[in-house]
Amino acid sequence: MTGQLHEPGTGAPRPRALILNGGPHKNGSTAAILRSIRARLETFSAVDWVDVYDLDIRPCRGCLACRPDKRCVLPEDGAHLVAEKIRAADIVVIGSPTYWGNMTGPLKTLFDRTVPVFERIDGRFPEPACRGKKAVIVTTCAAPFPLNLLSSQGAGCVRAIRTVLDGGGFTIVGTINHSGASQRAALGGPVHRKAAGLCRALAAV
Ligand SMILES: Cc1cc2nc3c(=O)[nH]c(=O)nc-3n(C[C@H](O)[C@H](O)[C@H](O)COP(=O)(O)O)c2cc1C
Repeated sequence: MTGQLHEPGTGAPRPRALILNGGPHKNGSTAAILRSIRARLETFSAVDWVDVYDLDIRPCRGCLACRPDKRCVLPEDGAHLVAEKIRAADIVVIGSPTYWGNMTGPLKTLFDRTVPVFERIDGRFPEPACRGKKAVIVTTCAAPFPLNLLSSQGAGCVRAIRTVLDGGGFTIVGTINHSGASQRAALGGPVHRKAAGLCRALAAV
């Protein structure tokens, strides 16, 4: 593992987990699922939480000066900060409400700005730079079950985030594609149980 801390007094390794909330609502359904995951992650890891909408992140200009394996040349902003957090993390949990069958714009902008964190260039070809790290993907969408499984709805958001994580070589231990989401609806037991199951998988060696 890359960034393990040590459990005080025991010497046991304590993995670092990073939660990226890619949604705008701190009390929305996406953040509620991420909080459910955080509570369980905290039992075995050091957890860092980033609200992507709170960061100032300029859009990628496509200059590709970051390749091969260089720091983004844009002025220091939130993307540089999160890039270091992803590098240091053993576990990454990415959450986004589904917007147009995809992730939110700010989360996509963050990933555009952090390409070398996920892929290094070996000779002519990109190589995964995050092998050994684990990940979970969470999305919420208004579409009711089973329409959330369409690629134009929640499944499209999961696929888009998976594309980034697969590029990095993450082991994706599972996904949550929560249907019928609204800011006012309380989360039911099944989604908390799914969160608990994913965290057990993350904790497993
Ligand atoms: C710009 C925008 C696009 C959206 N696109 C979709 C969509 O393609 N499919 C869908 O089921 N819901 C869509 N929704 C509904 C959101 O997914 C839903 O409001 C969100 O999951 C609620 O999560 P939150 O409480 O974390 O904000 C969209 C909402 C917005 C604001």
